[in-house]
Amino acid sequence: MLSYAGRVANPKPQPVPVRIGGFGGVDGLATYLRETGITHLVDATHPFAAQMSRHALAAAALAGVLHIAFTRPAWTPEDGDDWHRVGDIDAAVAALAGPSRRVMLALGRMHVEAFAAQPQHRYLLRFVDRAERAIGLPDHHLVIDRGPFTVECDLTLLREHAIDLLVCKNAGGSGAMAKLVAARTLGLPVVMIDRPAIPARTEVYDVAGVLRWLDHDADLGV
Ligand SMILES: NC(=O)c1ccc[n+]([C@@H]2O[C@H](COP(=O)([O-])OP(=O)(O)OC[C@H]3O[C@@H](n4cnc5c(N)ncnc54)[C@H](OP(=O)(O)O)[C@@H]3O)[C@@H](O)[C@H]2O)c1
Repeated sequence: MLSYAGRVANPKPQPVPVRIGGFGGVDGLATYLRETGITHLVDATHPFAAQMSRHALAAAALAGVLHIAFTRPAWTPEDGDDWHRVGDIDAAVAALAGPSRRVMLALGRMHVEAFAAQPQHRYLLRFVDRAERAIGLPDHHLVIDRGPFTVECDLTLLREHAIDLLVCKNAGGSGAMAKLVAARTLGLPVVMIDRPAIPARTEVYDVAGVLRWLDHDADLGV
């Protein structure tokens, strides 16, 4: 059973059954796990979906279900990167104090409103879906697109909009990395938001690791 929080209007079709929506907290998720007889829980959320990850850990413990996180290591800066690391969204907003700039906010739609506190900038936004309500940033341009993105595509986007600063979360992995390579290529500074803390857990970084944990080694030919 693949369980989505329901943030994307048209999720991609999947080859397994899908359900959508929250469970009503840790107790609700633990009840669901017990009632459906789930034996293994794979947390495959984005590294910033901290509440889902915390709930998954706590509910698995309550229901006596095995738990693993399928995630990706955080990005680390390379030669040519100009990163300014901040602890959270509020710190990223504070880091934008100062004269008007052309800023790409590569954050998804959930935290964009916080940047209304720095209305002097021209913001470039990229969402998966059209915005349901007006975006509270006085000067912005919205692009609707769904990753993974290529370096060429992100270079073109940054150049077309004459972006001089990128703000993003340290998601890790390859699907969202193109913008960092593009920023490095253009010599742009990056405000990099560190990941929220998640309690200690078993983590794997590839699907093969998840399948091995599920004892599906035979399917991998190993
Ligand atoms: N946060 C990001 O930056 C980010 C970026 C890209 C993609 N995403 C993806 O967007 C989705 C939502 O992320 P988020 O940051 O909004 O989450 P979140 O704040 O951590 O959690 C939102 C709510 O999702 C519900 N939930 C918990 N486990 C669930 C499950 N297995 N299936 C469905 N719902 C569950 C919980 O509601 P109840 O308490 O009612 O159970 C939880 O309070 C995730 O799939 C995440 O991977 C997030």
